[in-house]
Formats: sequence, structure tokens, C-alpha cells
Amino acid sequence: MNRIVLVGPPGAGKGTISELLKYDYNLPTISTGDILRKNVALATDLGKQAKAFMDKGELVSDHLILDLIADRLEEEDAQKGYLLDGFPRNVAQADALDEMLTKKGAKIDYVIYLNVPDEELIRRITSRRVCSVCGATYNTITKPTTKDGVCDVCGGDVIQRADDTEETVRNRIEVYNKETHPLVAYYQQKGILSEIAADAPLEEVYERTQAVLGVE
Ligand code: AP5
Repeated sequence: MNRIVLVGPPGAGKGTISELLKYDYNLPTISTGDILRKNVALATDLGKQAKAFMDKGELVSDHLILDLIADRLEEEDAQKGYLLDGFPRNVAQADALDEMLTKKGAKIDYVIYLNVPDEELIRRITSRRVCSVCGATYNTITKPTTKDGVCDVCGGDVIQRADDTEETVRNRIEVYNKETHPLVAYYQQKGILSEIAADAPLEEVYERTQAVLGVE
């Protein structure tokens, strides 16, 4: 049980659940969204190419994503397994991942599908805040910072993500339904997908996830 994919619409809780799993299962989290945001902040070539797509809530080109994933999966900490958050994002990316792993005699062990209704997604995302320094995630409704706008973990500025406006979120959900949701059937056919009703308090969603993976 080493390679785990988290699939779900924007705001389903992929990042939040993977942060919990990371400690309990001692696996690195690989979030393509986080890697892209770091590149945007540093104004790298990748960041410059990705920014316009991200701001509109569209997917970044497959070739850019596949290059960054191929490099990341070669890193030492990824050799005993990982949690993939936000990748793969369409069937072409899933096929490419399959091919990369098959060459190494490896495979994805679990795919966790976090299912949440659209209106709850919009509520969660428009109230999400993130630390601009360490990336800790907050929520003005369910998990506010102790001091307004200041990260509890590192004292950095807590901000709203550029793509977390209601208009962009609605587009991200449309893009998810068209491009990413087909992965549910894709991984169901492979017999490795577990669907979790994730419209519930975080503790319950996490318990349901652990029930699928087995408690370490
Ligand atoms: P990415 O960063 O992957 O964004 P996303 O998939 O839209 O997912 P989010 O990070 O918005 O949501 P999440 O499911 O992680 O929710 P979270 O745990 O934070 O991608 C951003 C962009 O990058 C894409 O639009 C695209 O442009 C590009 N990109 C990334 N990967 C790509 C790829 N592979 N190919 C092409 N392009 C790519 O939770 C949300 C909020 O809800 C938080 O405030 C949290 O505290 C709260 N919350 C969580 N769980 C609960 C709960 N159970 N109850 C109440 N509140 C909860």
C-alpha cells in the first residue's frame, strides 16, 4: 500500500486529507497544484506558462505536467510511495502515469475519490485561506486563524488563492466534470477506486479514508 491517488473536485478536501495521511502513513504528498503555485511565485518558465491557465481555472498543458511529475517521481523520497493530490487530472495523464509505473514494475495501489456536492464545494473554496509562506490551509468558517490574517504555524500572511473566486471556482468545477471525473470510471474498471462521501466533518471523512487504507 504505497502509491495512493486522491481524486475529487476542487474543494473536496484532497489537500487537507493528504496532509493528514502524510504523517500517519509516512508518505510524501505530491500536489501538482502546489508545485505549480511555487513556480508561479518564483516566476520560473513553468510558472509563467502555467499562470494564465490557473487564473482561469483551466488545466495546464499535459506535457508541462508530465515533465514535472516524471522528475518528481524520480526523487529519493518518492521511491517507497507517495500521495498524489491533483494528478492525474485527465485520462491522458492517467495513461501516462500508468506507463511510467509499468516501466518500473510498479502500480497505483489505491484511488480515493472524495465526493462532495457542488454547493458545498463553492462554500468551502470561497471561505478557504492559505498561508503565503508555509502553505497551511485555513477556512474562515470551519478553521479560522487565531489572529486575523496571520498563520498560526509560521506567522506568515494568510491570503485567498487567486483562483478561489466564485466565478473561477464554478469554471474549475465544470472543467473537473468534463476532464477529471471520467477518471472515476477509469479507476473503477481497474478495481482500485474507493468512493468516500466527503460532505461530512473532517474527522469523519478521515476515518472513512483510513477504513479504506487500513490504519497504520
Ligand atoms: P489544485 O491546487 O490541484 O486545485 P483543485 O484540484 O482545484 O483542488 P483544491 O486545492 O482547490 O481543493 P482540495 O480538494 O485540495 O481542497 P482543500 O483540502 O484545500 O489545482 C489548481 C490549478 O492548478 C488547476 O485549476 C489547474 O490550473 C492547475 N493544475 C493542478 N494540477 C494539474 C494537473 N495535474 N494538470 C493540469 N493542470 C493542473 O479544502 C478546501 C477547503 O475546505 C479548505 O478551506 C478546508 O479547510 C475545507 N475543508 C476540507 N475538508 C473539509 C470538511 N470535511 N468539512 C468542512 N471543510 C473542509
